[in-house]
Amino acid sequence: MTLSTVSDLLIQETKQVDVEVKGWVRTFRANRFLALNDGSTIHNIQCVIDFESTSEALLKRINTGAAVHIKGLLVESQGKGQTVEIQVSDLIILGDADAESYPIQPKKHSFEFLRENAHLRTRTNTFSAVMRLRSKLSFAIHNYFNENGFYYMHTPIITGSDAEGAGEMFRVSTLDPKSPPLTEAGEVDYAEDFFGKESNLTVSGQLEAETYAMSLGKVYTFGPTFRAENSNTSRHLAEFWMIEPEVAFMDLAGNMDLAEDFLKYVLNYILEHCKDDLEFLEQRLIQEEKSKPQAERSEMSLTDKLRFVSENNFKRVTYTEAIDILRNSKPNKKKKFKYIIDEWGADLQSEHERFLVEKHFKCPVILFDYPANIKAFYMRLNEDGKTVRAMDILFPGIGEIVGGSQREERLEVLKEKMAALDIPEEELWWYLDLRKYGTAVHSGFGLGFERLVMFVTGMSNIRDVIPYPRTPQNAEF
Ligand code: 4AD
Ligand code: MG
Repeated sequence: MTLSTVSDLLIQETKQVDVEVKGWVRTFRANRFLALNDGSTIHNIQCVIDFESTSEALLKRINTGAAVHIKGLLVESQGKGQTVEIQVSDLIILGDADAESYPIQPKKHSFEFLRENAHLRTRTNTFSAVMRLRSKLSFAIHNYFNENGFYYMHTPIITGSDAEGAGEMFRVSTLDPKSPPLTEAGEVDYAEDFFGKESNLTVSGQLEAETYAMSLGKVYTFGPTFRAENSNTSRHLAEFWMIEPEVAFMDLAGNMDLAEDFLKYVLNYILEHCKDDLEFLEQRLIQEEKSKPQAERSEMSLTDKLRFVSENNFKRVTYTEAIDILRNSKPNKKKKFKYIIDEWGADLQSEHERFLVEKHFKCPVILFDYPANIKAFYMRLNEDGKTVRAMDILFPGIGEIVGGSQREERLEVLKEKMAALDIPEEELWWYLDLRKYGTAVHSGFGLGFERLVMFVTGMSNIRDVIPYPRTPQNAEF
């Protein structure tokens, strides 16, 4: 007999047939009802055990967390809560789980506790649903680009350049930290290091993606990126995954259209293909909302929120308009913001972004044309000489989910910008070459994958949407 998955059995039309399934015990009650889950679906299958013909010793081993092999008859269920069940004829314990020490007992655990047990947390409904959705989202993303003529490009993880110019990088080195070779000036001599120069984990694949866009036309990367920023927030990771499309001959307006179309596609994909997991997470959120004060409760359910974003146009607003709105806003006047906005040129904090999205516009917002000096060196300078063709997409509950821009394609302007920021031309000679040979307007953006997973699952801490989060002081597992 072939092994079935729980997900197949739950929708199987033919009943009164022998079936076989393997999985982990979720609960076992009354020495009779075993709820089995194998990860194929959020739902368990009920396995009914005839305790009279089962030895006491075996019954004692049917603990939550144990791996079991079950053979039996698939029948329509008599009880409430399920349509089918298995009348067990044979049960084999594949791996015991000690009832005393197994951490994931069938009760409510805090997310903090589950983070400490991240190797077992996908044995809970919440985390299995989140991680199945994460997997589906990845495929939806690849589908979108594949269907739209993009090539998938693998940008390097180890690089010699700082793509964002923010200096928040992890060094990659094989030098002995206790006695590194020194130059005559007494500094660490990276010429003797593995790559013959200072190297780091990438903060973004953009610069390399630009080189491929300028030959293959439409490309994207989807890989891990690393940032050594010491921000211990619920939206920052030191290792996160980023999706970065880059397109030749596309300007900032085209970039906004692409990002919006792409986000709507993946949300619709999830609404269509992941109903069970979404339904579970929606109910979880409804319960969670009940414990909050009335004023803080969300008016929309999870699926309503996804549908709202996928069905409505994103509001496009310039940075300058946004500053006016913020300056005249209640929380600014009443000094409720931690950072008060009083001048054009101020960098926006997440409290401002969330005010614009959640209180003012009440829909996703694309902010564009930011001041040049708060954005990265590669962004296209506008005719006004002080703003750049940057865009950030802000989502409700998340804040910034996408950052992108039209790139500076003019060699002289780019060189001036780099000089002003002390970025050596030798380091990015290949990037400058793109502006020397066949330069053209081009644009792209970066979507933080975990922030998207947060939005889709309704999880409020980024540590709970990636299998093994890396954050300051924490790289367990
Ligand atoms: O805005 P960022 O820094 O943009 C770039 O890296 C560009 N090179 C992208 C491009 O144009 N190709 O980062 C892009 C997105 C952010 O909007 C955010 O969603 C996410 O990456 N992000 C983070 N996610 C989790 N943890 C962090 N520490 C993040 N930093 C950025
Ligand atoms: Mg950004």
